[in-house]
Amino acid sequence: MSRLVMVSNRVIDFNAATQAGGVSVAIYDALTRHKGFWFGWNGQVDETENATPQVAESGGHKTVTISLTPDDYNEFYLGYSNSVLWPVLHNRLDLAQFEAGYYARYMSVNEKFASTLAPLIEPDDVIWIHDYHLVPMALELRKLGIDNPIGFFLHIPVGPAQSLLAIPEHKALARALSAYDLVGLQTQSDVRNLMDFLQQSVFGRLLPSGRMRVFDAELDISCFPVGITPSDFATPAADLPIETPEISRIIGIDRLDYTKGLPQKFRAFGKFLEEFPEHRRKIGLSQFAPPTRESVEAYADIRAELEALSGAINGRFGELDWVPINYIHRPMPRAELRDVYRSSRIGWVTPLMDGMNLVSKEYVASQDPADPGVLILSMFAGAAEQLRDAVLVNPYDPLDMVQALHTAIEMPLDERIARNAKLARTVAKGDSITWSNSYYRSLTKAGQRRIGKVAPSARMTDALKKLSSTSKKKSSLKSHEAHAEG
Ligand code: G6P
Repeated sequence: MSRLVMVSNRVIDFNAATQAGGVSVAIYDALTRHKGFWFGWNGQVDETENATPQVAESGGHKTVTISLTPDDYNEFYLGYSNSVLWPVLHNRLDLAQFEAGYYARYMSVNEKFASTLAPLIEPDDVIWIHDYHLVPMALELRKLGIDNPIGFFLHIPVGPAQSLLAIPEHKALARALSAYDLVGLQTQSDVRNLMDFLQQSVFGRLLPSGRMRVFDAELDISCFPVGITPSDFATPAADLPIETPEISRIIGIDRLDYTKGLPQKFRAFGKFLEEFPEHRRKIGLSQFAPPTRESVEAYADIRAELEALSGAINGRFGELDWVPINYIHRPMPRAELRDVYRSSRIGWVTPLMDGMNLVSKEYVASQDPADPGVLILSMFAGAAEQLRDAVLVNPYDPLDMVQALHTAIEMPLDERIARNAKLARTVAKGDSITWSNSYYRSLTKAGQRRIGKVAPSARMTDALKKLSSTSKKKSSLKSHEAHAEG
């Protein structure tokens, strides 16, 4: 059996992590079923460049990690990844910061990742690269002669082509994508947006086979909605029923990010308390929102906004013995998630845009089938393509948010049971094993299709030669593109 080499920007130490996000849980689960290792950044910033990767093994999982330098951290991680690609892919062009130096560092860190990984690759390995930080990595590996199947999976959404075209280096990113055998996305709508972008950016052509021709490569672009392992959340029958709090709890668990729709959620909650005074003192919103990427201005802004909003709502409606919003800046320990979800009457998941959102699936899987809570889900979360039986809501519309909360609170038991049963079946059907197995199968197939044709390293070199000869013929645009190619 081939080894599976998982690559992502951040590698989590599962023994130390109190809360792991969707990407890391999905990677960890996949590696439980395949032999191989997980390669990426260890989350450390070291003053000096250290080229030697650290190898660690725990609980049957092997990780190989490197650290970033302060410049890498600022320009690659906070800069190009989280101040350009993250906002643009989430359709927040207004928050993008196109600063000089970010892209060059993005490329140099990708080269560093590739040159550290390449010597560890064996001929039968299947390489699966995750997330927006590492788009150019396959191209870098190909340049180093790696001909193995290489797939890419983007866990976050793909905004409309018009937004992506605003990235100054969009052509180079499109070219970098063409070095993969398979590009996996979360939803159909992401697939449509990416194809649209490739058509407009680099004249990509959709072939009758459903594949896309980009430069001289043929690319598979498909959606593979990421799932969870429901048994991690189901309560064993032998367990005693979980005590539910006296005040019905509405639970929210999101990273503190402007894409998560938290101000809209807080405002809607305030409006609900205003319009339905009979529910005051009977419900409370517990919002976990661990801060991340804090030195990026947009993140500092959202933090300040939420502190002001929760303070204002608590000040206005709170009582000596009742606080409407319990706003917690810490991650929820993973071991406690199931019980907290299960004892919460409502799961409130209303991002403005989200790749998938596994919190919604975890909430569903944790419910008592005989007395389940209600999931309120944003129509703009990737999960909404699957979880049609949630109370679906438009997070931008305050009235819809208030109405959804009212519907969820008043929902009769038989409707809660029926909706949760359907949701739980959907979550179980599209679980984490299904996700990783179907991606893995498609990637090996796409890799085999390429083998026996033109050798990929030669193909890419030819493509690069062609591009540079074309760009030599062009005038002002050309120097910009050459820079974009890194
Ligand atoms: C999202 C991204 C991941 C990232 C995670 C946490 O889920 O898709 O790549 O690791 O957020 O963000 P952070 O910046 O702390 O790694």
